Amino acid sequence: MSTAAPKKSKSSDAKPKKHKDKQKRSSTPTSADAKKEGKKRDRRMNAKNADRYELYQRAVNSPENDVEFIEKAYRHYRGEKKPMHFREDFCGTSSMCAEWLKSDPKRTAEGVDLDPEPIEWGKKHNFNSVPDGEARMKWHLSDVRGGVDHRPDITAAQNFSYWCFHQRTDLVAYFKAVLEDLSDDGVFVLDIYGGPEATTEQEEIRSLGSGIEYVWDQRDYQPGTGKYSTAIHFRFRDGSEMLNAFEYDWRFWTLGEVRDVLMEVGFKDVTTWFEGTDPDDEDEGDGNFELDPIGENCEAWLGYLVAAK
Ligand SMILES: C[S@@+](CC[C@H](N)C(=O)[O-])C[C@H]1O[C@@H](n2cnc3c(N)ncnc32)[C@H](O)[C@@H]1O
Repeated sequence: MSTAAPKKSKSSDAKPKKHKDKQKRSSTPTSADAKKEGKKRDRRMNAKNADRYELYQRAVNSPENDVEFIEKAYRHYRGEKKPMHFREDFCGTSSMCAEWLKSDPKRTAEGVDLDPEPIEWGKKHNFNSVPDGEARMKWHLSDVRGGVDHRPDITAAQNFSYWCFHQRTDLVAYFKAVLEDLSDDGVFVLDIYGGPEATTEQEEIRSLGSGIEYVWDQRDYQPGTGKYSTAIHFRFRDGSEMLNAFEYDWRFWTLGEVRDVLMEVGFKDVTTWFEGTDPDDEDEGDGNFELDPIGENCEAWLGYLVAAK
């Protein structure tokens, strides 16, 4: 999650996690020395010298899993046809685009975000290991309610970023723009979370190793307006804290509302995919998302909506 989000949990005392827990897998193998060096660096990290994007990616993004999922979602609708062009909305550091390009030398991608800072950070840190990366990638410093240069086979909006739209009219305008822009057999993938814990005002703390903690702060939820304020903080071994490293002013959208808007703007079909349960711990998600029209009424759940043009 992609992103960020609560983790599936069945019991009421389990705290929601940001979406990291779509099981992160180790990417390129690193030597023992490099690992040791990394650990040393982590132990020296503090609120002053830490890079918030590096920590965000470590805590929140799982680009390998996310790309694997969007390929599966596309296969569900289009069989063996291989998707080649990808659009990542709210792309931030564009970690998913980088993973997409790594997955096939012929694949291309476009990323859309209003903020140049994460885009520049991503160019510098995520694309140096992508062969021919910048040639196959195009960034748009623009609103997601506009189009891109080439019609995507898959468009994704990860880490609940579309919750930035507070008004239904804005969500309608966004989904309409995505539908128009997609290729004729394109597919739109959005993640979502819910369950009673999702709107509980609470902090979820998770270790990133070497004394570094990631804090997902569900600060405030207003049932009357749906306004939902959240933030990410990082705490370090020396006791320092990077408070409000990222802040989100969202509306909490329910799955039913989002699906209704997708159908209303003209998507032909919308399916729901929910995270499975860890066989060793029934309070944990297993990181795998399967087609499931019903879902399970957990305290916190994570899912995807997949909409076909
Ligand atoms: C939660 S971050 C998500 C980053 C990335 N998708 C991820 O999964 O890590 C949300 C991003 O959306 C961007 N953003 C917010 N509103 C936008 C809009 N209307 N159009 C384009 N980008 C927007 C912000 O600049 C920010 O980089």
